[in-house]
Amino acid sequence: MKNQIFKTDDDSLSVFNSAMNESYHSKFGAITESQSVFIKNGFLTLKKPCERINILEFGFGTGLNVLLTFNEVKNKQIFYKSLELFPLSLDIVISLQYTSDESYRHLESVFLEIHRAAWNSDIAIGNHFILHKSLTDFNDFQTEASFYDLIYFDAFSPETQPALWSEVIFKKLFESLKPEGILVTYSSKGIVKKVLRDAGFLVERLKGPPGKRHVLRALKPSYM
Ligand SMILES: C[S@@+](CC[C@H](N)C(=O)[O-])C[C@H]1O[C@@H](n2cnc3c(N)ncnc32)[C@H](O)[C@@H]1O
Repeated sequence: MKNQIFKTDDDSLSVFNSAMNESYHSKFGAITESQSVFIKNGFLTLKKPCERINILEFGFGTGLNVLLTFNEVKNKQIFYKSLELFPLSLDIVISLQYTSDESYRHLESVFLEIHRAAWNSDIAIGNHFILHKSLTDFNDFQTEASFYDLIYFDAFSPETQPALWSEVIFKKLFESLKPEGILVTYSSKGIVKKVLRDAGFLVERLKGPPGKRHVLRALKPSYM
């Protein structure tokens, strides 16, 4: 079986893909990791409380990052584009029960809307959130120059998919960010820091969630 569900250390569930020999989230806590790497270090650090925020995600996966971002949106307008080439079945996604926890129970119908949203179209989820799920290979991503405020880089690990953690990809992502835009990711490997720097980013190492000493936040300087 290619995809198996397993319980992580914070009791939230994740998916293990045996073909890739890789899980979608940290075994030390799926929700804890997403909340720390992408929401705390990324979304909540944006300095534009009221304007429209454009977010790009590499790796829609279980839709957990979309859900946690939606949960934080208050008076903001969000455009959220998420790339994915191998969508999970709705059965698998529902069995992850991400809205069974008290904190996310109010998002049960939102989670279903996120997953039922058509691919390759702008779909409104509520009145402040536009989701665009793009059935695209990361390698074919077309740059929209200076468009995004925030990138969640959540591909499988550099060990599993080294070609995706390349300067070519990070240069495209750099181009697609607005000046002062940021990219956050869970890997702090030396090679990842190097290719991010080579692509033009200013790279900062931050404390990681359980099981990970550091994670990265990369800034596109304002003068670029
Ligand atoms: C670490 S998981 C993403 C986890 C996701 N952000 C979440 O919240 O569940 C990596 C994702 O990248 C997708 N993927 C792997 N290679 C890809 C490629 N070349 N192009 C597009 N998506 C790819 C996988 O199918 C998987 O869903």
